[in-house]
Amino acid sequence: MTTTAPEHLLRADGVTVRFGGLTALDDVGLQVEPGSVVGLIGPNGAGKTTLFNVLSGVLRPTKGEISWKGAPPPGKRTHHLAKAGIARTFQGLNLFPMMPVIWNVMVGADRTAKGGAFSLISGFGRHHRDEQELKERAMATLMRFGIAEYALRLPGTLPYGVQKQVALARACVSEPELLLLDEPASGLSGQQMDTLADQIRGFSQHMAVVLVEHHMDLVMKVCDHIVVLNFGKVIASGTPEEIQADPAVTQAYLGTPADEGPSDGSPAVVDPSLGNGNGNGNGALR
Ligand SMILES: Nc1ncnc2c1ncn2[C@@H]1O[C@H](COP(=O)(O)OP(=O)(O)O)[C@@H](O)[C@H]1O
Ligand SMILES: [Mg+2]
Repeated sequence: MTTTAPEHLLRADGVTVRFGGLTALDDVGLQVEPGSVVGLIGPNGAGKTTLFNVLSGVLRPTKGEISWKGAPPPGKRTHHLAKAGIARTFQGLNLFPMMPVIWNVMVGADRTAKGGAFSLISGFGRHHRDEQELKERAMATLMRFGIAEYALRLPGTLPYGVQKQVALARACVSEPELLLLDEPASGLSGQQMDTLADQIRGFSQHMAVVLVEHHMDLVMKVCDHIVVLNFGKVIASGTPEEIQADPAVTQAYLGTPADEGPSDGSPAVVDPSLGNGNGNGNGALR
């Protein structure tokens, strides 16, 4: 049994995940400290989403342990996680299309309210005072995200960038201690990505963040610590500077020795269209 130092909010030890004959994660370890931003990167097929699902309790590892504040993970339903102080966004938007923005955010605010998401939708068993409080908290969060004007709109009628902000607001409204973000920058413009970078740094004043992301410039800008996966193994772990200087990382992305990689010093960006020869259409670090 592993002992967990109290300063670790989330810890993975020796995590192995097998899907039939395929080892998606092989003996992976990772720690997240309060208030830190941890990036999870690696070529396509490296095991990032699988690790993300294990960290968020959605997937049980074949071997190894996950601990949340020194205890087993709280359960895999979103409201179990929310109650324990963990929130996540999904690779897609995962918003309820038939519910106005404010309702979508209220569902996320349910951590401290008495009823569940079902009672929010049905109105069943919820006190008027609870609902009022949820609404106020959701509205305050929409204001904080600068999207209060869209409170009564259906998500599908809004630009994609605004919908991403709604998803983020829904995750943050419960004031989690850990926010898990799965590719939050996908589909965003450069300017929207700058806003997101500022937001993520802002979040880390109050919570820890684990970020799975393809956009290396964003990862390098916002992360305190980066873990690099390749073929399900951790091949590097360190500060953005250490990761950028690590030949094993360059090699994993390019499939060539580091000294054959680009040397123009340009910011690292993953181009998923470039393969590295591992058969999964891996991206390149450049
Ligand atoms: N549910 C699953 N069943 C079988 N294989 C899977 C499943 N999920 C992922 N894999 C495989 O595990 C490996 C890691 O996948 P994934 O975690 O999605 O990588 P990444 O997110 O880094 O692109 C890939 O080879 C993928 O095909
Ligand atoms: Mg993935």
